[in-house]
Amino acid sequence: MLLKTVCTIVGARPQFIKAAPVSRALVNSFHEVLIHTGQHYDYGMSDVFFQEMEMRPPDYHLGVGSGTHGEQTGKMLVQIEKILTSLKPNYVLVYGDTNSTLAGALAAAKMQIPLAHVEAGLRSFNRAMPEEINRVLTDHVSRLLFCPTNAAVENLSKEGITKGVHRVGDVMYDALLQNLVLARKRSTILRSLGLRKGSYALATIHRAGNTDDPSRMAAIMEALGSITTTVVFPVHPRTRKMIQEMDTSVATNIRLIEPVGHFDILILQENADCILTDSGGMQKEAYLLGVRCITLREETEWVETVQAGWNRLAGVDGNAIRTAFASWHPSGEQPALYGNGQAAEEICRILSTELM
Ligand code: UD1
Repeated sequence: MLLKTVCTIVGARPQFIKAAPVSRALVNSFHEVLIHTGQHYDYGMSDVFFQEMEMRPPDYHLGVGSGTHGEQTGKMLVQIEKILTSLKPNYVLVYGDTNSTLAGALAAAKMQIPLAHVEAGLRSFNRAMPEEINRVLTDHVSRLLFCPTNAAVENLSKEGITKGVHRVGDVMYDALLQNLVLARKRSTILRSLGLRKGSYALATIHRAGNTDDPSRMAAIMEALGSITTTVVFPVHPRTRKMIQEMDTSVATNIRLIEPVGHFDILILQENADCILTDSGGMQKEAYLLGVRCITLREETEWVETVQAGWNRLAGVDGNAIRTAFASWHPSGEQPALYGNGQAAEEICRILSTELM
């Protein structure tokens, strides 16, 4: 039997993590072609994830690299269109909210190739975030919208999108269940950094809204420096550049390290006393691992983690961050917000029905 072709487009770190369980679910029912835009290109931002999650190498690597939003997205669009023209896939699959997501979505929509969006319906309601623009536009040209949460389904409904919407759960939960077991066996990060469970906080920052605003970045560094514990801080390349340019002093309790692979970040998260982050994925992983999370933003797409009492929005307010760190210790229930860990299988089932 000739299998239908699904073309998956990824390009940035969190997309490799999300695509891995879906690719595994698709393998027997579809011919999957993988395009890597090259938005993330450092070994530690890209290759390490393919190796750890045993993903096969991309069929196409576009090598787009860094640039302004228009330049980066435009370069991707030109190349993706060429590939889709010759490939003629039955479906295009995109993930999340990056420039790679938008480029893939636009290319498919303009060519009238059906598009599926994994992690549809997420909203921060902050249009100053490039990710918010990418999400809204992608959702409005998608035929299948795979939502991780009820809030996402409701957001789409308020924008008039009700057809093709499926609440499948979160593929990051699938990924976590698969990867945590391996991470516990393979990661040596605690030993190599000399850390014990609960003896440190873990920080990550990469949102443009924080990194590209020197006053916000300075406030974050000051707040992290005033926390009474070791802060392990794997530094995203964008953030490193900004810290260097600002020439800011780094307090002695902050340990800046290179970005780490997925196994190491899971172990660092699982054993942290607290996670301080502006990452979307880590807010969810903190919840799923039962670790308190202080989010260094004013709003979040993952509102249910806040409502459940395990995530606090502190922005870059030093007092709010210090107070939360010192005196807030959630211990309440953890309802299953992100499905049952079978989101990838569900996506595969719905795609199969759609393409019957
Ligand atoms: C992107 C996504 C964001 C996602 C994040 C995960 C957009 C608009 N944003 O932000 O939604 O949460 O990825 O990390 O798509 N750089 C390197 N090496 C790399 C990658 C990046 O040095 O491997 C540097 C480049 O100087 C680049 C900067 O980091 O200019 C930012 O990279 P960019 O591709 O804009 O995305 P992120 O900030 O990572």
